[in-house]
Amino acid sequence: MPQCFHTVKELREYLKPLKAQGKTVGLVPTMGALHQGHATLISNSAKENDITVVSVFVNPTQFGPTEDFDAYPRTLEADLEVVGKAGGDVVFAPSPAEMYPSSDDTWVEVTGNITKVLCGKSRPIHFRGVTTVVSKLFNIVGPTRAYFGQKDAQQVEVLRRMVKDMFFDLELRIVPIVREESGLARSSRNTYLSAEEKSAAVILSKTLKIALEKFKAGTTKVEDIISFTRTEIAKEPLANIEYVECYGLPGLYELSDEVKAPSLLAVAVRFGTTRLIDNIILE
Ligand code: PAF
Repeated sequence: MPQCFHTVKELREYLKPLKAQGKTVGLVPTMGALHQGHATLISNSAKENDITVVSVFVNPTQFGPTEDFDAYPRTLEADLEVVGKAGGDVVFAPSPAEMYPSSDDTWVEVTGNITKVLCGKSRPIHFRGVTTVVSKLFNIVGPTRAYFGQKDAQQVEVLRRMVKDMFFDLELRIVPIVREESGLARSSRNTYLSAEEKSAAVILSKTLKIALEKFKAGTTKVEDIISFTRTEIAKEPLANIEYVECYGLPGLYELSDEVKAPSLLAVAVRFGTTRLIDNIILE
């Protein structure tokens, strides 16, 4: 079982002598409810670093007032097992008061289109919460490398920008989307889905895959790629589309007419009350 620390002081005291010996540290920031996707991030970190720290913190500042902060699954005991099996050494599971010690807030915010498009439209405070908590974690742990999943493609682009602009001295390691056998992208929120919704949600990965094939076969107009993806997903009666969008990479820049490789095709779709996201890189 990995060691579990709840305070910044304890974690820093543990890491200090190890860093002094020149050991490398991998950080895997998570909100817990760990699944195979997280286990892949952890095992990648364990392969590439001497010590792997996994943070488990359901970060209140990245949830809007009507979102699922209270309902978000909290499963620390099971998470410790996943971390141990995947090769992680330490879990950092702070309380909200530990992470947000002041009554007034200090924010780290990436502004501009990169945080306003896609999920930024319906979740206006989300990325400010993510960049604030991730910079706190970077400052607490001082990792050599930090691991994030490509499933949260916009989060990845926002964090790349933050690391560059704030001169964080670490390497971001982005791990491809881990999918269930059906193609459904692994997500802690999949536990909210009924069996019927779960099989309906397979339409997302299936459609994104065909969209990539179409792009490779010569369908390169942004409008055509988006309308194909939207139409296919809409054929699933349980799917309620929030967005189907396409932006250029890196940095989620606006595409004019043609999809330029590499570009991100991303979707957010509700099945019942559960909002799922998925994406594919067109290249
Ligand atoms: O991707 C997540 O689980 C969260 O957004 C993160 C990066 C752990 C920050 O709370």
